[in-house]
Amino acid sequence: MKHLLDIADLGPEGLKEVLDLARAADPGRPLEGKGAALVFQHPSARTRNSMEMAVVQLGGHPVYITDAEVGMGTRESPADVARTLASYHSLIAARVRDHRLLEGMVAASPVPIVNMLSDAAHPLQALADLLTLQDELGRLEGVTVAYVGDVNNVARSLAVACAMAGVTLRLAAPDGFDCTDADLKAWSAYGAEVTLTSNPREAVADADAVYTDVWTSMGQEEENERRKKIFAPYQVNDALMAAAKPDAIFLHCLPAKRGFEVTDSVVDSPASRVWPQARNRMHSARGALAWLLAHADG
Ligand code: CP
Ligand code: NVA
Repeated sequence: MKHLLDIADLGPEGLKEVLDLARAADPGRPLEGKGAALVFQHPSARTRNSMEMAVVQLGGHPVYITDAEVGMGTRESPADVARTLASYHSLIAARVRDHRLLEGMVAASPVPIVNMLSDAAHPLQALADLLTLQDELGRLEGVTVAYVGDVNNVARSLAVACAMAGVTLRLAAPDGFDCTDADLKAWSAYGAEVTLTSNPREAVADADAVYTDVWTSMGQEEENERRKKIFAPYQVNDALMAAAKPDAIFLHCLPAKRGFEVTDSVVDSPASRVWPQARNRMHSARGALAWLLAHADG
């Protein structure tokens, strides 16, 4: 039984297979006549819709469930939620406030568990990010990506994905919102180099792609005002894009807080690939689900 709590769960071979499956003309119908439970503790536009459509394209029936119904960790333990939902569904996906809820489900689940975003990781986003880099730049090996902003769930999954795929990643973040030397060592151990600086210009120099995400993630809303001040020098604007390669592309997982982590002029520029990136969420989700189902027991 395989689960997808973060990119590392796929292994380097699995990651390649998922990206190939994402592009497969005929992914088959491994979910024919079966259900997929999609549980959300936070709102979602891209993840909900891309996952629902990926399930439909694989022949299955997605069921959208809010935490008001399951009360994961409050009304019922994550293990019992997994046992219950697995009675009806061949796959359970969840967007959770606390990554440990996903681990609690994995411990008891007879069907694959998929992380649709936690405080620690966003693997489905990282798969779409790699697919977009490959589509837009024609390769992954040897590509340099600069991630500017909060080293959050999105950045951490991106780091593992890039390292496993041979993409050099340069992180630029303020002190206290960065990562540890141990993180950098662990990520680099997958293969490609992951480095950290507090200087955004240094990170983007010669980069093929510049990536950012919101300064305040879901669940951190009370820190918003403090974060706006700290992250102001990390805005991706025309001047910062000009310091990257002349043909560098811009990526963002979305939703974007325009005027904060990125300006309209960048997100709406010809360099921006945020819409193909959003569309790739569906293709990569389909690839990930097909791969997990091929590795599920029974
Ligand atoms: N990028 C992403 O996960 O978007 P949603 O929060 O809208 O799902
Ligand atoms: N880092 C953001 C990503 C949203 C898709 C958050 O967790 O809110």
